[in-house]
Amino acid sequence: MTARRTVIDVLKGETVFPPPVWMMRQAGRYLPEYRATRQRAGGFLDLCYNPDFAVEVTLQPIHRFGFDAAILFSDILVVPHALGRDLRFEEGHGPLMTPIEPTGIEQLDEAMFHVNLQPVYETVRRLRAELPAETTLLGFCGAPWTVATYMIAGRGTSDQAPARLFAYRHPEALAKLLDRLADHSADYLIRQVEAGADAVQIFDSWAGVLDEASFDAFCAAPVARMVKRVRTAFPDVPIIGFPRGAGSLYDSYRAATGVTALGLDWSVPLSQAKRLQQSGTVQGNLDPLRVVAGGRALDEGVDAILAGLGGGPLIFNLGHGITPDAPVENVERMIARVRAGSHR
Ligand code: CP3
Repeated sequence: MTARRTVIDVLKGETVFPPPVWMMRQAGRYLPEYRATRQRAGGFLDLCYNPDFAVEVTLQPIHRFGFDAAILFSDILVVPHALGRDLRFEEGHGPLMTPIEPTGIEQLDEAMFHVNLQPVYETVRRLRAELPAETTLLGFCGAPWTVATYMIAGRGTSDQAPARLFAYRHPEALAKLLDRLADHSADYLIRQVEAGADAVQIFDSWAGVLDEASFDAFCAAPVARMVKRVRTAFPDVPIIGFPRGAGSLYDSYRAATGVTALGLDWSVPLSQAKRLQQSGTVQGNLDPLRVVAGGRALDEGVDAILAGLGGGPLIFNLGHGITPDAPVENVERMIARVRAGSHR
């Protein structure tokens, strides 16, 4: 008998109640064991590119909490890094890169792409072998627009003004960059599925800074291109799209891109989420700060999602990544409350 991977069942459109649960950024700094491994590894990228460490930190939240899905430990910026762009992570600064110029796009080094990413594929292979049979293994990558924002600004910004200006000033260059990223990111996901990922998530964390026309062109169209390419290799692999901050533009995103499921941020109202659930699986969308606060704020947030969305295909998650200041006991409380499932 094969174990039931409930996350996959829900991605196929089944309603499972209580819903399966995992958290974006579930392997991370809020866990003491993560901080210890990171110390041993040295830098953040040493964690990402060393399969021993990457497997270890991926499994930490599975062992501690028994989440229904494990997400490969890596970063969205390994894709531009594997294309020859420099990348460093500095304490307190987040990612730092040399900003790409319009002329730099032709010079992306594509020859070594999969060679550079071999450690990631090895991590996925080992994870699928080591995970409990019922735990879904998620691969992931960044969406072209979100990855481009970091390549263009060379760092994180609050509104992605450098990338938006680049888009308006150099439309041909941006289009070329998004196409290249879309094709390489799709091939990266295909290799992850070949290595054992059961489903994949595409993180478009900066979808919410764009006007409607730019959203269609820079977020939805490149993700559609990726989905098409992944499905040519794997017609049935579930794909979760997470266009954070898309607001009312969530309504057309599933049809426009072909993603299987929608990852919802916490600003999506439950009424809209319910409507989105009519056309397929949704994932989300607890405010991560409710997990920091705990107590009533946490319980009420969990209950509202279970009451609003528990009657349809739902994967319980946060509306964005868990923050480093979240107490571990609040994560335990959240999972227990989801699994008690008494609020349908
Ligand atoms: O979810 C998981 O547990 C898997 C691992 C994962 C990481 N990054 C590890 C990480 C995933 C899925 C990501 C995705 C990612 N990376 C996104 C999209 C999702 C999102 O949060 O919006 C983005 C925009 C990045 C780029 C990135 N990486 C930034 C902006 C930062 C700095 C901010 C921060 O939290 O420090 C990172 C660093 C990073 N990626 C950390 C982790 C655990 C912290 C690094 C550390 O240990 O010091």
